[in-house]
Amino acid sequence: MVMKGKVQVDFLDGTPEKRLFLSIISDYDLTTGLCELIDNALDFWVRTGKKGKLAVDVDLDTQAQLITVTDDAGGVEVDDLRLLVAPGASGNDPTSEIIGIFGVGGKRASVALGRLVEIRTRAKTKTYQIDLDEEWTRSEDWNLAYYEVSPIPKGKTIVQVSKLRQQFSEDDIDGLKAHCSAVYARFIKDGVDLSLNGEILQPASFDNWAYPKEHPPVKTKTTLALGLPESVDVYLKAGLIHDRDAEGDNYGVYIYCNDRLISKELRNRDVGYYVTSEAGVPHPDASLCRVIVDFNGPAEQMPWNSSKSGISAAHPAFSLVRPKIIELTSHFSSLSRRLKYDWDNSVFPYRKGQITDLGAFHAKWNQRLNLPSLPRVRKLPIGDSIRTLNKTLIEKQPWVLGLVESVAAVDHLGKSRLHTQNRIKLIVLDSSFEIAMKEYIAKNPTLYPPHQYTDSQLQTIMSKRTLAIKEVRKHVDIPQSLIDKAQHYYGLRNKLIHERTTADVSDQVIEDYENVVRKILKKLFKVRFPAD
Ligand SMILES: Nc1ncnc2c1ncn2[C@@H]1O[C@H](COP(=O)(O)OP(=O)(O)OP(=O)(O)O)[C@@H](O)[C@H]1O
Ligand SMILES: [Mg+2]
Repeated sequence: MVMKGKVQVDFLDGTPEKRLFLSIISDYDLTTGLCELIDNALDFWVRTGKKGKLAVDVDLDTQAQLITVTDDAGGVEVDDLRLLVAPGASGNDPTSEIIGIFGVGGKRASVALGRLVEIRTRAKTKTYQIDLDEEWTRSEDWNLAYYEVSPIPKGKTIVQVSKLRQQFSEDDIDGLKAHCSAVYARFIKDGVDLSLNGEILQPASFDNWAYPKEHPPVKTKTTLALGLPESVDVYLKAGLIHDRDAEGDNYGVYIYCNDRLISKELRNRDVGYYVTSEAGVPHPDASLCRVIVDFNGPAEQMPWNSSKSGISAAHPAFSLVRPKIIELTSHFSSLSRRLKYDWDNSVFPYRKGQITDLGAFHAKWNQRLNLPSLPRVRKLPIGDSIRTLNKTLIEKQPWVLGLVESVAAVDHLGKSRLHTQNRIKLIVLDSSFEIAMKEYIAKNPTLYPPHQYTDSQLQTIMSKRTLAIKEVRKHVDIPQSLIDKAQHYYGLRNKLIHERTTADVSDQVIEDYENVVRKILKKLFKVRFPAD
């Protein structure tokens, strides 16, 4: 064919090569891979009108190192069998509200999980089987044999993966259960029985809001028209939570796309963290803030990555709502911080209430949400705040109270207008240091067995500061610089008490010694102070 300035030479062969599999299987782990297989069963159930209940059974045999995923979503018709093996082939309509869109998930996941994948499926009377083995993934022939095999129950698809590329353990299984309970919670509630090694998974939801009196959670929504006839609906909910897990860090942003959880506990710049004027650096004080975002719309418009294991922040659907997400993380992080001394009274007890509807927002107009004003920062008296911060610690180790209150007393003296307050402060700080050493040794029978550390032995140790420090340092790593400072101020205190001339105690000395004592208390007892 001759076109102006363009002469066709021949045709190039654009058939993909099997090496393609090498690239598409990288970055896949057990969790991502299994979820792709579960996604496919869910999609087929949704696509065929959610008729009846759907059962998806995942079986992970640690002994045999065998993965089996069985579903009764309907089975694959003989004419559609190629969809299971041809990269890019999909039976899904990209404009519908489903999960599968790229046409690679199932193949990519199965091949990534193991060197042998056997798929059996039965839509009508006949049961078919295909085997994706190394011979096929390595040869340049794309044709793959399919077989008729002895029947499995009608409507079922069974994917069995063996010769695994990565071994799994019982610990992995526990992690997977928790993951799937969260990722598929909405589907489980909607009628899917998802089981893992015979255990039916319970849905794990995150809208566990607290409803503090003037600061209940809020919701807002928008509709995004991204150039296609179908639009994307976005729902945002935000507030303080009552299910804080101090170790689990279960706060931040949670994102669902078409009801599947894509990302949870997000705390990065994309959602406003690490920017001082926004949500700030993630910190326990701000850990009651949670924002849940729901994107619903055509699969091809969802802001997920290709394995649905994370968000693509540059995607227009996400970047259009990002400012609102940030407004919400900033607001509720501040609220969490401002109420931090009073969570137990003003947040956690309020478990029921109404979510305030802020109405719809327009993603392209830069209008701020109508959020209630934040409470003024209420400074609690130091004694109260120190007790609140260390509540559980004091319950477990009551002797810590005296130590932290001594430091509080030093702060309190600062407002006393006493002319000799620094002398008193020095004595209090130094005694706190000494008592901290004693409590550490006396209240730690495993490290310091009483038959070895008898009362008289303890007295001898405590009669010499260096001995006490030496004993404690056997089990706690205290930097030499801290010890040097403590010894220096101990000398100053001795001067004050024993020598003829009265030693001068400057503000700077007190500030520095207080810092030393705080650090020691943190090291020995994990005490927290309000400014931490
Ligand atoms: N368990 C199943 N039951 C019925 N059909 C299935 C099943 N698993 C896969 N399929 C069919 O195979 C197709 C290909 O699945 P695959 O996961 O590779 O791509 P996808 O789901 O369309 O897109 P994505 O790459 O985003 O997951 C599906 O679209 C579906 O038609
Ligand atoms: Mg898929």
